[in-house]
Amino acid sequence: MINVEPKNLSISELHKYLLSGISPRPIALVSTISSSGINNLAPYSFFNCFSVNPPTVAFSIVRSGVEAETKDTYNNLIASRECVIQLVTFDIVTQVNVASAEYCSDVDEFIKSGLTPIESDLVKPKRVNESPFQMECVLRDMINLGEGRASSDLAICTVVKLHIAEDIFEDEKINPNKIDLVGRMGGNYYVRSSGAAIFELEQPRKKLGIGFDGIPNFIRESQLYSGFDLGRFASIEKIPDEIEILNFVKEYNEIYFSDFEGTVEAFSRYERIKDYKKMLKAILVIRRSKNHPNIKTLIERTAKIAIEKNDILFAWKVALIMDVK
Ligand SMILES: Cc1cc2nc3c(=O)[nH]c(=O)nc-3n(C[C@H](O)[C@H](O)[C@H](O)COP(=O)(O)O)c2cc1C
Repeated sequence: MINVEPKNLSISELHKYLLSGISPRPIALVSTISSSGINNLAPYSFFNCFSVNPPTVAFSIVRSGVEAETKDTYNNLIASRECVIQLVTFDIVTQVNVASAEYCSDVDEFIKSGLTPIESDLVKPKRVNESPFQMECVLRDMINLGEGRASSDLAICTVVKLHIAEDIFEDEKINPNKIDLVGRMGGNYYVRSSGAAIFELEQPRKKLGIGFDGIPNFIRESQLYSGFDLGRFASIEKIPDEIEILNFVKEYNEIYFSDFEGTVEAFSRYERIKDYKKMLKAILVIRRSKNHPNIKTLIERTAKIAIEKNDILFAWKVALIMDVK
């Protein structure tokens, strides 16, 4: 471990660690307007949502260079107290990157980036037509954080109007694959939050799982299960009892799968295609032979796939078949 107090690091080292560790971050594409009427557009990834009631978002504007000069976004916000914040999708990220260049305050970054300005309803700054998620905002507070190089000002904004594209919805919810947002990471890295990168994990709320301490040692001490797997085991409210396991084994002993083979080779094939039900059926056949390989490992590999497929009850039942004939 690197164990260090921030005061013992240079600003650039600290910057590198914080931005790579606190990652990925959503990107606010902030549109403001200068007192002479010039549109300004710039991305800010020190950004998040902090309250729903009232709807409040905040982003932080770092002062530039040794002179700690304020950026156009800061100057415009202080003067007009209005902005539009839009989220950045994969489709527009390279244009947003163009807008992040340090153009003079008389340059319109909508023109430089090729993004299309459209009128807002309640504030003067323009919206970015290409972003499917746009928030018209008023400045609630600008909080200065420190002085000198790399000091920042935190802009806390109240959302006064939302504009959300209809085509990013599915079943009345925003679908992450359809909105296709990007996040900022350390260095020049970004992440595209769609496809294989997305997974679901239901929040427990009032559903009280047995917890880590409720997991039997033979599962907790396995070399194969990861922290992710054990976290899923810990989320169940009640461990299946012996009768449930017996019925489960009986069901899989009797179940018919077409093209099924009960061999170790077939088990590995089923594992590759993540067919954990056939993996279990294969285990039940394999363990009848005298020279069977380490059944414990096969069981754990099957439970792991069931967990990956979010079938936690199945994972538990497989994990507990060790002692059942
Ligand atoms: C993806 C991305 C995220 C950024 N995040 C921030 C940030 O959180 N704070 C900041 O001060 N600058 C950030 N920048 C740099 C600003 O966008 C850049 O300084 C820009 O020139 C500011 O424009 P302005 O002077 O028009 O406000 C980011 C740049 C990129 C490409």
